[in-house]
Amino acid sequence: MSKFTTSDVVHNESENTPFSSVLEKHLSRRSVVRGGLGGAIALLSGLTLTGCNSDDSDSVDEDVLESIALAFESIAGSKTDGCVVAAGYTASVLAPWGTPLNTTAAAWKNDGSNTSTDQLNSMGMHHDGMHFFPINGSADDGLLAVNHEYIDQNALHPNGATADAEGNRPVEEVRKEIYAHGVAVVRIQRINGNWQVVENDPLNRRFTSDSVMDISGPMAGSDHLITPFSLDGTQTRGTNNNCGNGYTPWGTYLTCEENWHACFMNSGTQPADQQRLGFPSEGTRYGWQTAAGDASEVDSEFARWDVTPTGADATEDYRNEASTFGYIVEIDPHDASTRAVKRTHLGRFRHEGCWPGKLEEGKPVVFYSGDDSRFEYIYKFVSTAPWDPADANPSDRLATGAKYMDEGTLYVARFNEDGTGTWLPLTVDAVAQDGRTLGQIFGDLPGIILNTRGAADAMGATPMDRPEWCAVSPLNGDVYFTLTNNTRRTEETNAANPRLNNAYGHIIRWSEADDMSGFDWEIFVFGSNDSASADVNLSGLTDLNEFASPDGLGFDSRGILWIQTDNGSDVAEDTNDQVLAVIPSTVLDDDGNLTPITADNQDMLKRFFVGPNGCEVTGLAFNADNTALFINIQHPGNWPYSNDATEVTPDGTSVRPRASTVVIQKADGGPIGV
Ligand code: FEO
Ligand code: CA
Ligand code: CA
Repeated sequence: MSKFTTSDVVHNESENTPFSSVLEKHLSRRSVVRGGLGGAIALLSGLTLTGCNSDDSDSVDEDVLESIALAFESIAGSKTDGCVVAAGYTASVLAPWGTPLNTTAAAWKNDGSNTSTDQLNSMGMHHDGMHFFPINGSADDGLLAVNHEYIDQNALHPNGATADAEGNRPVEEVRKEIYAHGVAVVRIQRINGNWQVVENDPLNRRFTSDSVMDISGPMAGSDHLITPFSLDGTQTRGTNNNCGNGYTPWGTYLTCEENWHACFMNSGTQPADQQRLGFPSEGTRYGWQTAAGDASEVDSEFARWDVTPTGADATEDYRNEASTFGYIVEIDPHDASTRAVKRTHLGRFRHEGCWPGKLEEGKPVVFYSGDDSRFEYIYKFVSTAPWDPADANPSDRLATGAKYMDEGTLYVARFNEDGTGTWLPLTVDAVAQDGRTLGQIFGDLPGIILNTRGAADAMGATPMDRPEWCAVSPLNGDVYFTLTNNTRRTEETNAANPRLNNAYGHIIRWSEADDMSGFDWEIFVFGSNDSASADVNLSGLTDLNEFASPDGLGFDSRGILWIQTDNGSDVAEDTNDQVLAVIPSTVLDDDGNLTPITADNQDMLKRFFVGPNGCEVTGLAFNADNTALFINIQHPGNWPYSNDATEVTPDGTSVRPRASTVVIQKADGGPIGV
């Protein structure tokens, strides 16, 4: 989450039970059993690790679970203009903002004077979610797909954003900003232990907020998406504010549109979906619409950001342009001739990311996605087609994407008071809380998708504390979700989340029922300052693992869970944003069952990395043999000083800040973390 692009306004006015009160009842019930908060948390282990105490055919070999342990010492917090990583590791800058992808782009200049054309052919700004796609299974060669979530206008231009006396932005600046957003696909190779960009590789390419993209799924061809650019409602231009990410089992990248709504404005009467998403009524985040009317403008490329109706219908103005945003977007990184595709069946909201569930032959393919705003929801998409392992390496990856992502059912989560959960379908036949079907309320499936938040309200979904990233255990399929914080919860006090103005956030996990209609959930860890009182520091964190605002999250192939933060609380006074690691399969109670992080076992959660001043740490990818960990440093203040990510910018020296990937490797070349 960028602090710049988020909003403090709560747009969910439904009366669905806030998650905080659900937790309160859940924990209270357990508290009665054990008679104490610490014991209650320890008892919140409704999940059992398949295989530890069962003979389930899906069991995980106990040897596998016990053979892995974190082999680094948790590091101290840090607040410098440099990165810090655990002893024995190196951290290097790779592909920072402005790195040319081809020879059309001039080299990055440290005065902001690169042109929009340079930007179109270079790495974008503010790296966020990413994924590494090995080429031919190599551990040293692959494609890194990187989201560019938003921009820092002060760093992007020589003198920041400018406008004329009437407030109109210059076209060259606007184009450069539009081209700094989106996604980069870049070939990287490890040579003599050092990762580097392969300039001019034919697979290098950029997707920007201006790239032509296809619409697929229920919204394709719907009246809701008709624009002068696409009279049949099957295409649009651009993807915006791409935050978290995902990937598919068939080798494609998923990029997710989060805080895109504020790049648009509608000063007329806003339809229900725009009200629910919090559209501006005047002014957009960057004022791109003010460049409209320039002689060089193509197909209203600037005017389209103001969606206020002006014509007789949708063929005469861009009233529907914003309805082509808010989706999961699929990219085939292996074929530069393909367009990106917006997979609309996964819902339209402020998507943080999109992560596949555990894959099983003959069972549906599942994707989880969070809507990162206060009191918003967690969603799940379940494919109609059962998984066929023959699709793991298809000749046409986007056709495979259509097979598994265009036909299926979208659900939203309700977290029940007894520790169970229910997936509520968002279909025309689903019966809402008021007794009507969603079809009666929203007309048809495109009407439901258009206002996904409204449909979830109607079904009684549970409002959450800003759902961010998801991670699925490769060992047992348990699903982990970061709930980064919710300082607007001012009226709810409770035992399980007993913090008014929840500044620290927590991580929830659940285990799906066999029929996938529901789940069992518990809280895995609560963020906190170590100095907070015991009724706040519920997981007993210390100065070696205190954290706040968990955001990025991911399992590697060995079952190590990596947690990244985007501080916003007083923990930021003690340390910059960071990466922590824990192996949940080894956090067990005396009976061998999975148990959450508590004061008794908190030392199993270790701090591995700390970023430079001003940044958030986000994005998580591993190479094929786990000997390289890629993370992203977004919106640093005065970094990077050199190619060594740990080199601190000297006092008195100012550098033009550049978001960048950082590649972490063991000095001896071995696997990360163990
Ligand atoms: Fe862009 Fe929710 O973080
Ligand atoms: Ca985020
Ligand atoms: Ca502290």
